[in-house]
Amino acid sequence: MQKANGANGDGRWTFFREFVKHPLQIGSVIPSSHFLERRVVEAARIRSARTIVELGPGCGGTTRALLREASPRSRVLCIELNPRLHALVSGIDDERLIVHLGGALSLRETLSRYGLDAPDAVVSGIPFSTMSAASGSQIVREVSAVLAPGGCFVAYQLSGRVAELCRPVLGAERVELELRNLPPMRVYRWAKAKD
Ligand SMILES: C[S@@+](CC[C@H](N)C(=O)[O-])C[C@H]1O[C@@H](n2cnc3c(N)ncnc32)[C@H](O)[C@@H]1O
Repeated sequence: MQKANGANGDGRWTFFREFVKHPLQIGSVIPSSHFLERRVVEAARIRSARTIVELGPGCGGTTRALLREASPRSRVLCIELNPRLHALVSGIDDERLIVHLGGALSLRETLSRYGLDAPDAVVSGIPFSTMSAASGSQIVREVSAVLAPGGCFVAYQLSGRVAELCRPVLGAERVELELRNLPPMRVYRWAKAKD
């Protein structure tokens, strides 16, 4: 169902070039390791999710990990701000996948544009520590508003900024540390209360 991604292998070179041009937006020199991808997929309980949203797929390694685990009847919506990385992820051939060029700030509008149900899981690698507090808070409010009851928000981050932004909206976090990633990364998880 999935094919190789772009002419330059797994897109790492494009990822690095985009980091050099837009360091604050990309937020990381290299993509996530397979260890981190695995931990994120497990934390978000992707196997049982029907609608999945990924914020900031980058060059698509995390997207492929989500698709490997997701059920055949799921839908995966990726929202990527960077046009070159968006083009790269759009090369993944999988009928469950929608790749949208745009920002996480318009999450509600983007879900309704594609006629998708409330997501059971929102997974995010976007760098909350380099964006303004106002933008970060608004993204968190969007995530909280769209999540299905019982759904979860999983954010993998170097800094604890995302937790400061999420606590007032989504409550206390559960956090794990993935040491087998360069750099070691925190994986935060919030579950939205069931009605
Ligand atoms: C640290 S990279 C993560 C890439 C990939 N998921 C991984 O783990 O290797 C962050 C990604 O988020 C994207 N991004 C940053 N801000 C964004 C926003 N507001 N909306 C959507 N994507 C954003 C960047 O362009 C970049 O591709």
